Amino acid sequence: ALGAAGLALSLAHFAFPLAYYAYLKARWLGRPWGLRLDPGYRPRVTVVVPTYMERGLIEGKLENVYEQDYPRELLEVLVVDGASGDGTAEAAREWAGRHGDLRVEVVVEPARRGKAPALNEALRRARGEVVVVTDADSLWPRSALSEAVKWLSDERVAAVSCLKLPGGGTVPGVEEAYRGFYNTVRLAESKAWSTPVFHGELAAFKRGFLEEIGGFPTDVGADDSYTAVAAALAGLRAITPDGLACVEYVPGRGYAAWRTRRAQHLVQSFAKALRRLRGSRAPGRFKAVLLAEAYLHLVNPWLLLSAAALLAASAAAGMVLPAAALALGALLLLYKPYRAWVATQAFLVIAMVRNLWTKE
Ligand code: GDD
Ligand code: MN
Repeated sequence: ALGAAGLALSLAHFAFPLAYYAYLKARWLGRPWGLRLDPGYRPRVTVVVPTYMERGLIEGKLENVYEQDYPRELLEVLVVDGASGDGTAEAAREWAGRHGDLRVEVVVEPARRGKAPALNEALRRARGEVVVVTDADSLWPRSALSEAVKWLSDERVAAVSCLKLPGGGTVPGVEEAYRGFYNTVRLAESKAWSTPVFHGELAAFKRGFLEEIGGFPTDVGADDSYTAVAAALAGLRAITPDGLACVEYVPGRGYAAWRTRRAQHLVQSFAKALRRLRGSRAPGRFKAVLLAEAYLHLVNPWLLLSAAALLAASAAAGMVLPAAALALGALLLLYKPYRAWVATQAFLVIAMVRNLWTKE
């Protein structure tokens, strides 16, 4: 009986994401966007780079923004540094001095306060109609800004983010593997209405919208993803369009801690989103997307863990079929996408437990 329950749970664990993926692909992926884009939209844009100890990356990051094909006179860059103490702010100022044709302001906070408070500080100073947040450890293609702006020209689109490609530094295999699946999901969700997962590498917002919701949330680690959710809850769209990719340097050291922190942030974002869903102005199809993603992040990982425990228990009791299923599950770890999936489930479980005592 234990073994049968274990088998059922593992089937359920894998069936739901596959069914969701199949549904998104069949129902939404090939659909038109349903947006009215204005090719003449050329707003002032404020690019915000929050930094903490980014001495090694800040110049390359500024260079990358400088090389964008968006009109430079419409651009302003705000570096908000959390009192790094490694010379990040000085390097940024020096870079700005060498590039007089781009408006750059470097703000140094009195102490390290976290990313979201830094973004809110930037929001108070931003003059652009569009505010684009970007992490120091990320890179854009040359057309990233104009692409983001293009999609924001529809009045119902409040937020735009990118599809993520792995790059830079050491890229562990697991990281590479899962992007294809996730990017398809993000794109299809965006077409349905909105995606609840954004990326810090490029998160563009209309400033008016940010001001309306009172700035970036400081109680949720995933400030970017939760702000995307907030847009949908307000009846607006938050999308990751095709043709807008970004790259994050994957840290070679501290990989597990980094994945755990990420997972914690997403868990916090979905928990808050669920509390706000009822009575929101989000359309039904976004509610369905949010419920599915919340299930995938908050519930589904536990099914795999329980299944493994049940199968192991009955295998230990001498049952052949559960033992075989467990062996097959272990053998499949040789297959990269499967291994990446299982690793993600493990990070989510660890994240939920860890969230009980620290929010990071
Ligand atoms: N001013 C300031 N103060 N900046 C900070 C602080 C701080 O306390 N902490 C981090 N930053 C800066 C970093 O220097 C970097 O440019 C950016 O904020 C993101 O920090 P990372 O350390 O790279 O965060 P991450 O990779 O774990 O998570 C990122 O990606 C997630 C998913 O896309 C962040 O952008 C998350 O907000 C995002 O959810
Ligand atoms: Mn990062």
